[in-house]
Amino acid sequence: MTDFLNNRCENRAGGAAYPRTRLRRNRRWPWLRDMVQETWLTPANLIWPLFVIEGENRREAVHSMPGVERLSVDLAAAAASKAAELGIGAVAIFPVTPSAYKSDDGRHAVDPKNLICQATKSIAASVGDRIGIVCDVALDPYTTHGQDGIVRDEYVVNDETISVLCDQAVNQARAGATMIAPSDMMDGRIGAIRDALDAHGYQHIPILSYAAKYASAYYGPFRDAVGSAKNLGGADKKTYQMNPANSDEAIREVELDIQEGADMIMVKPGMPYLDIVRRLHDRFPVPIAVYQVSGEYAMLKFAAQAGALDEQKVVLESMIAFRRAGASAILTYFAHDIACWLSE
Ligand code: PBG
Repeated sequence: MTDFLNNRCENRAGGAAYPRTRLRRNRRWPWLRDMVQETWLTPANLIWPLFVIEGENRREAVHSMPGVERLSVDLAAAAASKAAELGIGAVAIFPVTPSAYKSDDGRHAVDPKNLICQATKSIAASVGDRIGIVCDVALDPYTTHGQDGIVRDEYVVNDETISVLCDQAVNQARAGATMIAPSDMMDGRIGAIRDALDAHGYQHIPILSYAAKYASAYYGPFRDAVGSAKNLGGADKKTYQMNPANSDEAIREVELDIQEGADMIMVKPGMPYLDIVRRLHDRFPVPIAVYQVSGEYAMLKFAAQAGALDEQKVVLESMIAFRRAGASAILTYFAHDIACWLSE
């Protein structure tokens, strides 16, 4: 017989905590599950990446990312405005640069009339500071070889690249970027970009460093979306992006970026790298962003389209997993859908 009053099970020896302690009690009713929930997701945690193309009133489907579209500047501004209404924290703009503007040294990156600057200006004009505008700093949208930096003797050179990145960052801040996000993985670029921004009066503009960015095959659909895949050809980015096998190295990357002045650091990709998010969160008191990249979007989307997964449920579960691992901000192509679901 079981003596519930004294919390003892006759058929269980040893006087173990069970059944006095029953963890299922706190899961009994929805109100109680909510009361003890450790992490939450709000639209304010989200950053929505937008692909921008030339022209007016134009949208193009991205075939490897069903549901994602490349938008002309006017439509991108309208999308950002809608995102602001939904409470999304920020948009991250990625330009699809026409090949005529690409060059060996990616100099179009510093042109104040380039697409990312046009989009930034137009979003800032229509949405003001109701939403953050994150601009990516790296040369890959502008180089004929598709690498993130300047290439000399088949090697992406560090210091020479950084001087262009500094000009690129200032160019974007001038257009109205409210967060500068270097994604190039050059050494020392955070400090240099900080100095450049400060020297030009942008002391108040935060830097979100892609600090632990891995040389990942999950970026495939993104490179299709922005059209850098064909430029890159069969080449990879392994001399600057991190080896997926490494974890201690992420700590060194982040430590340096914090010393150099990063305001927020990013782990990328997301789901396959949750262990990195957790390690960094345990170690550094700095806000962490995580990027659920294009390949992760494609995996979830295609599986949902095939009827294998419930899209809304798996996407929300992936979001709460990022929050649980320690991320404050999440870049995701699902941001708009998520914000709609959360408001239902
Ligand atoms: C460019 C950049 C990339 C992504 C964001 N910025 C691609 C790359 O490094 O090749 C990937 C985003 C995604 O896959 O969703 N520096």
